[in-house]
Amino acid sequence: MTLPNSPEHAFLDLGSETLEIPFVPASEGGAGLAINHLRPKTGYVVYDPGFSSVAPCKSSITYLDGENGILRYRGYPIEQIAEHLSFMEVSYLFIHDALPTKEQLDVFTNMVRDNMMLPENMRKFFDAIPKNAPPMAILSSGIEMMTAYRRREKEPIDDPDFIPSAVYRLLAEAPTIAAWSHKTSVDEPLVYPDGRLDYASNILHMLTWTPINNYEVDPVMARALDVLLILHGDHEQNCSTSTVRMVASSRADLHACISSGINSLWGSLHGGANQAVIEMLQTILDNDRDIGRVLSRARDRNDPFRLMGFGHRVYKTYDPRARIIKQAAHDVLATYMPNDPLLELAMELEEAALQDDYFQSHNLYPNVDFYSGLIYRAMGLPAKMFTVMFAIGRLPGWIAQWREANLDPESRIVRPRQVYVGPAKRDIIPIEERG
Ligand code: ACO
Repeated sequence: MTLPNSPEHAFLDLGSETLEIPFVPASEGGAGLAINHLRPKTGYVVYDPGFSSVAPCKSSITYLDGENGILRYRGYPIEQIAEHLSFMEVSYLFIHDALPTKEQLDVFTNMVRDNMMLPENMRKFFDAIPKNAPPMAILSSGIEMMTAYRRREKEPIDDPDFIPSAVYRLLAEAPTIAAWSHKTSVDEPLVYPDGRLDYASNILHMLTWTPINNYEVDPVMARALDVLLILHGDHEQNCSTSTVRMVASSRADLHACISSGINSLWGSLHGGANQAVIEMLQTILDNDRDIGRVLSRARDRNDPFRLMGFGHRVYKTYDPRARIIKQAAHDVLATYMPNDPLLELAMELEEAALQDDYFQSHNLYPNVDFYSGLIYRAMGLPAKMFTVMFAIGRLPGWIAQWREANLDPESRIVRPRQVYVGPAKRDIIPIEERG
């Protein structure tokens, strides 16, 4: 490909022909090259497994500069957001495209809090789930089940001035489904939301309270959870968000899109990594704490083992969220789990990996999942709940992306092509003649 010779176009030299490719300007970061006419005009398709160089949409929600470790929600730096905003403000920012006034925030917060109770009938759904069921499976099916209660077929979801009530209800009901997925999994009585508590406190209350422990929420822990939710809020076109937008492209229901996103998040290379990190740390601890051996396994191309919580498709430097979470882990664990052997091991492992030639040459740094599980563990949550907590944090981002996709006049149903490598045309041999 030759370099652009005008500000508006690049040219793709295909030997027999040259294709003019318009630029799609970006307000910051790399511009796009509009190659949607490549196949109709030339018959070629773009081969890019993992979509490393594909932008299926324009978006104004999150800006991410992986080379320089920059993350912004609607232009606001993540460091300022984590320090100054609450998760409810961030949710408002995602859904309404602007920071709320005090009055707007009050209305929004009250609306969410007042809708946290699930339809009582939903208890039967939880009754049908066996003990020890994976909470992520319960969460995704519970959210999907809410379609039965919240679907409004005729709502004008492509009207920018209209926000479906299902959006607020989903934000309100998801933590209750998440907490009940935990209670169902550990076979404890379901706990109802408490209208006196804020969002994060309510989550801790519903997850932890039993008639025996009469748990009272610690505000320090609630703020720690609020910050974790904020840091998970949105992250551009990652695997689960792309899933949400892809499902949305067929005009599927909001709950169906979010439920699909949750399932996509579950994998250990994505949001499931926070669970995998704690399990990895525990295994290392139980096996002589041999960090050298762990790093050598991670370097070995013939060994499928990877250092969980390290590496990222976009970040080629320290993930800014990991930096904030590492500090929060120190603060929380100093109070609740002083001298936690897993935190000490995590820091040792990080330091050793950052000094290692392989990790340096591959630009592998801790990502958002490396330290977050340590905080969830200090909250008393089992490892299989960590990704559920991630999903609750990601919810407003997914909703904003779902909305943006529905409002985008250029959006089309997602339908990628392939490079076919199967057999050429052949005829069926009758069964009695097959050798
Ligand atoms: N440990 C060891 N080597 C790694 C790791 C790791 N954690 N991550 C990447 N590499 C190596 C790969 O082996 C590859 O090496 P090579 O070029 O010598 O063959 C190179 O770095 C590039 O890796 P890819 O897998 O091509 O990178 P990709 O962008 O496709 O994957 C991913 C990114 C999935 C996050 C990867 O870094 C990984 O598996 N990390 C561990 C799982 C994890 O922590 N996931 C959470 C990510 S954050 C999130 O989704 C919320």
